[in-house]
Amino acid sequence: MPLIGPKKMFEAAYEGQFAIGAFNVNNMEIIQGIMRAASEEKSPVILQVSAGARKYAGQTYIMKLVEAALIEDPTIPVCVHLDHGPSFEMCKDCIDGGFTSVMIDGSSLPYEENIAITKKVVEYAHPRGVWVEAELGKLAGIEEHVQNAEHAFTDPDQAVDFVEKTGCDSLAVAIGTSHGAYKFKGEPNLDFPRLKTICDKLPNYPLVLHGASSVPQEFVELCNKYGGNVGGARGVPEDMLRQAARMGVCKINVDTDIRLGLTASIRQHMVEHPEHFDPRQYLTPAREAVYQMVARKIRDVMGSSGKTALFQ
Ligand code: G3H
Ligand code: 13P
Ligand code: ZN
Repeated sequence: MPLIGPKKMFEAAYEGQFAIGAFNVNNMEIIQGIMRAASEEKSPVILQVSAGARKYAGQTYIMKLVEAALIEDPTIPVCVHLDHGPSFEMCKDCIDGGFTSVMIDGSSLPYEENIAITKKVVEYAHPRGVWVEAELGKLAGIEEHVQNAEHAFTDPDQAVDFVEKTGCDSLAVAIGTSHGAYKFKGEPNLDFPRLKTICDKLPNYPLVLHGASSVPQEFVELCNKYGGNVGGARGVPEDMLRQAARMGVCKINVDTDIRLGLTASIRQHMVEHPEHFDPRQYLTPAREAVYQMVARKIRDVMGSSGKTALFQ
């Protein structure tokens, strides 16, 4: 199956009350771990590439790795998506380079400027058959180029206006999630009434949750046991994400948990095998850790296991 856009994925997800996992990729081992999980769980998947990932690995390398993954298992519906596109130019580069979906992140801009840049990307993307995700509202924490001291949750009426004016295909909303490993100081809490209002005002419209890692405590403990220092890390409980997936949330973004699983594995290996220095010795279990983490997400968070059947 060639790369596909998210349209069919989100239609199926909306209808079936599950979500498509959007996993951040930076290198071969991460792509292989995710694709093995998608393959074994028979789940559609979005591989998303941040500006930082493009800079680290190079767009051509990433696209060639994805191409290899499609050859290895042609039965998996795969979309390649630009995560947090910071500019029209980067969105254009990705569209021209074969991405089937891009995000333009104007969430840090004044409202009218967010509309203008999103519209400009939509006008370039749509004639080329590419999907556009936009963001309205601000997540707390550090995004690639957006740093906010506090949440500014998405206003439901503004969301409707934004979608109408820009023609964006999906919308990332701020309801209490945030990027990184330190999401909540007190009890985790998402603004479900707000999410419900947005869903009601935008029926059949796919919403996106960023900052949706769960930061499983066993991996935090493993990191810390083997010399790490990630105390107090805390994520979004898996049952809250399932609840969001049963509403209008069709895409759930996960990066931190992959990093955590991979790093915990490497830390453990290094401590247990101080004599090893062949990267294959520690990257083999690290890739396995990515696979395990993503398979768990697909099963317990996205609810997308077995859904490749909808695409045959
Ligand atoms: O939301 C941001 C993603 O986790 C990507 O992170 O910019 O460090 O690649 P990155
Ligand atoms: P996490 O940091 O919670 O994994 O979020 C990733 C994300 O939103 C990528 O866009
Ligand atoms: Zn994000």
